[in-house]
Amino acid sequence: MGAICNIMCRFFANPLSQSKPVLESDIEKPFLDKNIMLFHRSLPDYLPTTTHTLKALANKLNIGSLLVKDESTRFDLKAFKILGASWAIKCWLEQELSMNLPEMPDLISKLATSNNLRQITLTTATDGNHGRAVARMARWLSLPAVIYMPSDTVSSRIENIRNEGAKVVIVDGSYDDAVRQVRASADKNGWQIISDTSWEGYETIPRHVIAGYQTLFNEQSELFQNIDIVLIQGGVGAITASTAYYFTQVATKRPYIISVEPNNSACLFESACATTHKEDCLISIKGSPKTIMAGLNCGTASRVAWPIIRNAVDLFITIPDTYATQAIKLLHFAGDNDQQIESGESGSAGLGGLLALLNEPDLEKARNTIGLSDRSNVLIINTEGATDPASYRQIIEKL
Ligand SMILES: Cc1ncc(COP(=O)(O)O)c(C=O)c1O
Repeated sequence: MGAICNIMCRFFANPLSQSKPVLESDIEKPFLDKNIMLFHRSLPDYLPTTTHTLKALANKLNIGSLLVKDESTRFDLKAFKILGASWAIKCWLEQELSMNLPEMPDLISKLATSNNLRQITLTTATDGNHGRAVARMARWLSLPAVIYMPSDTVSSRIENIRNEGAKVVIVDGSYDDAVRQVRASADKNGWQIISDTSWEGYETIPRHVIAGYQTLFNEQSELFQNIDIVLIQGGVGAITASTAYYFTQVATKRPYIISVEPNNSACLFESACATTHKEDCLISIKGSPKTIMAGLNCGTASRVAWPIIRNAVDLFITIPDTYATQAIKLLHFAGDNDQQIESGESGSAGLGGLLALLNEPDLEKARNTIGLSDRSNVLIINTEGATDPASYRQIIEKL
């Protein structure tokens, strides 16, 4: 990986991206289910999240317009992840019970009378938000849950999961180590893994996680039909794949799709650089990289997300933490009549990527590739709010 600390930003223009990739049927099928929104609407206290138009910030950045889909208000979980976890659990239960369970109350009542399933433990590895979402679903369904987290997880994110009633296991190592640990523990104990990442032989549930994220776009699809550039932050790449699917297969206009990752935890970027049209090459980032963008601190791409990402993401960029903190402040100290938006370190990374593209001399070529200009309509997704409130306060109080 070399002397990454000295590098401000990197970019890779993907030669494999296509305007509308043709998807194999096992990849496409989960997205074609018409009932995803119907199910999400049946979750307790469901409300769609808002897409804000930030006029003052767009003026300040000298771009045409800036839309922010704000997932900081997703239930009281402050992150988008419940859309994937809940849908994947619903699909898994349907398969286990061999019946249609269109809405959440159907799941609850069927589970209550299923002697086999109502004792089963749900488990996953997480940097925070996905595990909290699985724990919330387990609580709603009265199932036990055990959630594995990397050793550098901050206490607020651990407490958020414990408060859902789940057991938390801190692994001595990184997110990838937590994934390895969850696989071993689930095998040993007969637990059900509900993972947002996938590996050989474990693909169905992560495919449903990716499909579940479509609700995020379908909630305000009318606003997303004239986007020129969408920036999406990636961890294992599930939300990147879902974004890429929506904007290549569903939206009327196909924007430039840009993946944003932390400099030293950029498995999608590294994999894109190494992949050729003849061969996929998923690169794992070794060790325990440090970044404040905890939700993006994943070492290995999801193998079911990758085929979509490989053929649909136009540009991969990596940014240092300073761009995430700048973005948090811009969203917090909104100008004029702009909506003030609470954004966590991973939530703000899409805007951080845009700031980097606008400001970094090293990214001039990337800027030109996507035609970023004062006429560009840009969409970012604030994927989380302040899930580490102490860090958030520190960032916004620091001048
Ligand atoms: C807030 C936030 N944004 C983005 C991501 C990246 O999602 P994915 O791992 O699907 O790429 C995560 C992952 O946990 C997250 O928590």
